[in-house]
Amino acid sequence: MSVIRISDDALARACGADDVASAFAAAGCEVERVSSWGMHWLEPLVVIGGQGFGPASAADVGAILDGSSSKAIGRIEDHPFIAGQQRLTFARAGRTRPLSLDDYEATGGWAGLRRARQIGGGAILEEVVQSGLRGRGGAGFPAGIKWQTVAGAQGPRKYIVCNADEGDSGTFADRMLMEGDPFALVEGMAIAAEAVGAQKGYIYLRSEYPDAIARMQSAITIASSIIAPFEIEVRVGAGAYVCGEETSLLNSLEGKRGEVRAKPPLPALEGLFGCPTVVNNVLTLAAVPHILTDGGSAEYQVLGIDRSKGTMPIQLAGNIRHSGLFETAFGITLGELVNDIGGGTASGRPVKAVQVGGPLGAYLHPDQFDIVFDYEAYGAADALIGHGGITVFDDTADMGEMARFAMEFCAVESCGKCTPCRIGAVRGTEIIDRIRAGGRQRDVIETAPQMHNAPRGNRSREDEVRLLEDLCETMKFGSLCALGGFTPYPVMSALKHWPEDFGK
Ligand SMILES: Cc1cc2nc3c(=O)[nH]c(=O)nc-3n(C[C@H](O)[C@H](O)[C@H](O)COP(=O)(O)O)c2cc1C
Ligand code: SF4
Repeated sequence: MSVIRISDDALARACGADDVASAFAAAGCEVERVSSWGMHWLEPLVVIGGQGFGPASAADVGAILDGSSSKAIGRIEDHPFIAGQQRLTFARAGRTRPLSLDDYEATGGWAGLRRARQIGGGAILEEVVQSGLRGRGGAGFPAGIKWQTVAGAQGPRKYIVCNADEGDSGTFADRMLMEGDPFALVEGMAIAAEAVGAQKGYIYLRSEYPDAIARMQSAITIASSIIAPFEIEVRVGAGAYVCGEETSLLNSLEGKRGEVRAKPPLPALEGLFGCPTVVNNVLTLAAVPHILTDGGSAEYQVLGIDRSKGTMPIQLAGNIRHSGLFETAFGITLGELVNDIGGGTASGRPVKAVQVGGPLGAYLHPDQFDIVFDYEAYGAADALIGHGGITVFDDTADMGEMARFAMEFCAVESCGKCTPCRIGAVRGTEIIDRIRAGGRQRDVIETAPQMHNAPRGNRSREDEVRLLEDLCETMKFGSLCALGGFTPYPVMSALKHWPEDFGK
């Protein structure tokens, strides 16, 4: 009998993977806990001799073993969801035991670091620049350019900080990577250190990810002699969305309040404890080992389109039939992702809206489904790719409520440092309430401060909409960071595409 392979990823375990594993063990089978394939709707997913079964429960074990199970999905690698991907960052997903050095080495692990040490700092920087790798945390800044700045900066020490805060709604790729292939992140950070001359690295990980915290701590201990003299430490954040913003994160790492710092100085020049610091997302750093293997940079560079090079681990979430991780080269359309790969809504109702890029991302209408996954294309549509999270809503969603939620989220999560965000977001929720109430809501208006020329209590709905547009402009251009600066995207896109949800 082949080994029974079951994921020990937190999502699989939340769906009952531990019970399924125990049931197979009780039936006398050898069970191996591996990383997740990222087919979330099929978890707990059982793989025996390459054949998949899911979603499995302990009650399915007998039928799976005697070959009569209705949960059979065929050869896992031939499943359209897997066969349609180009996995580079997640090449090991589903295939290896997360903390097995043997599995890691057998699948090309440490080859990038070995080569990086041979070619040295300048050549590493050149290859990362050439690959076209851009930051996967949201802003899409070229990783190689950031590294070059840190390499050229003067400072008593240099740091590599991995941003593993992963606060965006509908995202889980960082968690999956850290739980499933932790050595890839360790290796990516060690290569970054080699490139810029850093001695120490920190992984800033959210407290809501206990499995990832434990996994990363174990991986760092196991790999410590391989990456020496470079050292990595895990630091646990307390769950504020704004602590994912890089300067706020640095303050938090220093033990200070998680408040955004004004730039300049750039963290690359004066970052952690005032020293030159690389701050990169988990996925950015985990893409590096492949790029540094022989020919990896050239291979990465030819994938994708225009200035969006390589692959992006896209996360399909919300009301979608096939939720999970889909890594593919840039250039795929939103329609393909939602309808062809995602299979439409889980509820079976028509798709109404798709939010791409987390809570600060625009709501896209099905009329925009031909937009291609590309940083610039999304920017041109007043939208953003962010961390690659895609959250689907069916036709029961109230987009006015979602716009209000965006403002409320900003008000709650604001670090409070700048006025457009701290006060604007509160006023924004009030204006949306008044718009949805049809304007002229004396009782509501009288609780809000005067922000417009029309006399209190006499503003029409159109006046209120203009006021909201004005406020969004102010937040967009006057905020210190993207929390206040990008909140207008979900608000204005919802108002533009679904005005009927605003009480019109
Ligand atoms: C409010 C806010 C939250 C953010 N949250 C995250 C996050 O959770 N993870 C992340 O990698 N980047 C986050 N970012 C982006 C970071 O500021 C920064 O651009 C990123 O860590 C740089 O790494 P990259 O170049 O590899 O993307 C956030 C930005 C803002 C404004
Ligand atoms: S935009 Fe908001 S979160 Fe960002 S610095 Fe200003 S107050 Fe802080």
